[in-house]
Amino acid sequence: MPMTEPVLTKRIPTYPYGDPKDRHAVWYDEYVKTGGYEALAAALEKEPAAIVDTVKDSNLRGRGGAGFPCGLKWTFLPKDYEGQRYLAVNSDESEPCTFKDRMLLDFDPHQLLEGIAITCWACGLQTAYIYIRGEYHEQAVTVQKAIDEAYKNGVFGKQGLMKGKVDFAVDCYLHRGAGAYVCGEETGLLESLEGKRGWPRIKPPFPAVAGLFGKPTIINNVETLACVPHIVQHGSEWFKSLGCESTIGGPPSYGTKLMGVSGHVNRPGVYECDLGFSLRTLIDEYCQGMKGGKKLKAIIPGGISMGVLTADQVDAELDFDIGRKNDLLGLGTACPTVLDEDTDMIMVARNITRFFKNESCGQCTPCREGSGWIYKILCRIEEGEGTTRDLDLLLEIAGSMGAMPGTTICGLADGNNWAVRTIINKFRDEFEARVKPSLVPVTMSV
Ligand SMILES: Cc1cc2nc3c(=O)[nH]c(=O)nc-3n(C[C@H](O)[C@H](O)[C@H](O)COP(=O)(O)O)c2cc1C
Ligand code: SF4
Repeated sequence: MPMTEPVLTKRIPTYPYGDPKDRHAVWYDEYVKTGGYEALAAALEKEPAAIVDTVKDSNLRGRGGAGFPCGLKWTFLPKDYEGQRYLAVNSDESEPCTFKDRMLLDFDPHQLLEGIAITCWACGLQTAYIYIRGEYHEQAVTVQKAIDEAYKNGVFGKQGLMKGKVDFAVDCYLHRGAGAYVCGEETGLLESLEGKRGWPRIKPPFPAVAGLFGKPTIINNVETLACVPHIVQHGSEWFKSLGCESTIGGPPSYGTKLMGVSGHVNRPGVYECDLGFSLRTLIDEYCQGMKGGKKLKAIIPGGISMGVLTADQVDAELDFDIGRKNDLLGLGTACPTVLDEDTDMIMVARNITRFFKNESCGQCTPCREGSGWIYKILCRIEEGEGTTRDLDLLLEIAGSMGAMPGTTICGLADGNNWAVRTIINKFRDEFEARVKPSLVPVTMSV
């Protein structure tokens, strides 16, 4: 399979195979020299509504995990509202095994800032907050330096976008989180930005109507916003020439996608591929195969929340259809973790649940209690004290927690549910070999 022509990573020195030590951030002068901020200049010549139409027509789907169409989300802003509106940029990136936004923050921060400026112009948003995860210390320093450069050069600030050509000022602030997974959930993020505990909000109202400080707010992921300048500059038809159509009658998966591979491969890293790229090629060619020549056992395709694939499913295509075709929650962050034949899947399930248990904000009983119950049962099985009845109990608890069954406020519990259910269902033999026969019939309901 040919290498994808890089779009989002094209300016990153030595990407993808050079020595990462030789990589450095592309600062303002270099960014401008290589065509940076041309898309913003072009956008400012257009009517904001025309930009929204272009992004809508491109079918750009959110890169933060849910895959919601970006342009469509922008149209949810109230039309006749004159007051303050916000952009919240989701740089929380705390999904385990996910590190693709970090690449953009580290090495091409102005690409993100250009996407922010265009989005603010298109949607009439006066203030942007970049909410960055607490652990991203270095990235926070890099992004702040880029924001300072952007202010100095008239992208942001009172002098108006692009040195006063347009009478519309955008302010951009960096806000550092304290390191909580749930603050990546968009309404948890808004609460945290407001200075409160990061508790997700019940929806509706949706943030586009009542978001930050109760004002209309657009929330987008870093990678989503980084796509915007390219779509504005090259047009929606160009974007649609990348990626793939749905093969099951669903919405298309256009564009390229950053895929951060970790686990038991020879060359882990972030690779930019067309959506629809083969997982097998990603592992065998980009990542140079399995470490130590070991056999592939399982793949967690896109953050631990999405569920697991078996080795037989390695020909899955990495696009937004992957969930429906392979019994997963979805594509998620498209950052696969590759596990070899020596991996203990009970330990994997226990470790994943430990994460969700610790990160649950505690508002919803099925998430708060369910994650703890699942964790205790998995510990019991791992220690050789579990019974066959525990396996059905695990499936029953997991299947009853999440926003999808309608029992929780946010999707954190769904992540736990899908991870545990798919690991047990797809590796049931391994679990059965570790448990004792149960003397109690499986009739208990929780
Ligand atoms: C528990 C949880 C954690 C999340 N963490 C992130 C995150 O770290 N980064 C992110 O962009 N989206 C995250 N999301 C998804 C956001 O809620 C939201 O869908 C996304 O920021 C919207 O941006 P997009 O449409 O550009 O993808 C998370 C969702 C849930 C339920
Ligand atoms: S699902 Fe879990 S993390 Fe989300 S709001 Fe409910 S308790 Fe909090």
